[in-house]
Amino acid sequence: MKRALITGVTGQDGMYLSRLLLSKGYEVYGLVRGQNNPKIDLVREWAPDVTILTGDLLDQSSLLRALNIAKPDEVYNLGAISFVAYSWENAQLTSQVTGLGVLNILEAIRLYSGDDASKVRFYQASSSEMFGRVQEVPQRETTLLWPRSPYGVAKVFGHYMTINYRESYGMHASSGILFNHESPLRGPEFVTRKISLAVARIALGLQESVSLGNIEAKRDWGFAGDYVEAMWRMLQQDHADDYVISTGETYSVQHFLDIAFNHVNISDWEKHVFQDPKFFRPAEVDLLIGDSTKARTTLGWEPQVSFEQLVTMMIDADLEREKRSKA
Ligand code: GDD
Repeated sequence: MKRALITGVTGQDGMYLSRLLLSKGYEVYGLVRGQNNPKIDLVREWAPDVTILTGDLLDQSSLLRALNIAKPDEVYNLGAISFVAYSWENAQLTSQVTGLGVLNILEAIRLYSGDDASKVRFYQASSSEMFGRVQEVPQRETTLLWPRSPYGVAKVFGHYMTINYRESYGMHASSGILFNHESPLRGPEFVTRKISLAVARIALGLQESVSLGNIEAKRDWGFAGDYVEAMWRMLQQDHADDYVISTGETYSVQHFLDIAFNHVNISDWEKHVFQDPKFFRPAEVDLLIGDSTKARTTLGWEPQVSFEQLVTMMIDADLEREKRSKA
């Protein structure tokens, strides 16, 4: 039976990945930060067979302790401060957790592994935010990185540190450059879920409108359930490497709104949507679209859920949830 340790297990990706690994017969350990973290109950409900360990990416001894308990064959580093807008207000903390945290876990794995550098396979959650002011369209593994937020800069640090540990110590360390990926488990601070929740509530007469920032921004949006499959496939390869994971299609926030409101039979959605300067970012990433040819050919991976299916899946889930809480 293989063993895996997931940092960031309480997040959307951690939840989908836990279920995937459990379904493949893994023994799964999830690292959770803080005392009485309220999200632990969510994980227990979603994937009861995950063993919860406490630890923090900022505390290397807690990472070593978790490694000694979990004895993992694979570590998935999904833990991060991941909300881009927040990273301007908390640039140092974001740099420490999202950037230096990667070094802490890599170093803990190196110490834990002793003479056997490839004892533990490592996955780093890199991000398309690293492309920022894009230098090539579509973006691929070799595209020059030009991050536009403290979060993006921290992710670049983690990305290159992962490559450096692979090259310096021969670690089986891979990095997935994941483009935006969403699901009904997405946090409500991210634009897709903010919209799906608002649209469901507007359709049910529970809310009048929603305030957003830049609705011209374009993203390459996929389904999180498809993307965790790519993470797992990366660690099953003989050699570690870096892969772009994306759908290859890009849509604006406005287009997301179109499909979302259309799904609940509201065509004149403009009267329900306002733009508020407080949701605009100091530096925006205008356009992301990824070329995932390498992942498709090497890993045999491809996304299963289309953009329209993703939007409607999120709306339907929020309609259900809102109806239940109303009842
Ligand atoms: N969150 C948010 N809220 N975004 C808004 C809003 C709003 O009210 N209005 C417009 N947007 C725009 C943002 O300016 C951005 O251009 C786009 O919607 C997407 O924003 P987010 O959903 O917050 O995601 P993100 O693209 O900044 O970052 C996500 O994807 C990255 C991968 O590229 C996060 O999941 C990151 O952690 C991830 O690395």
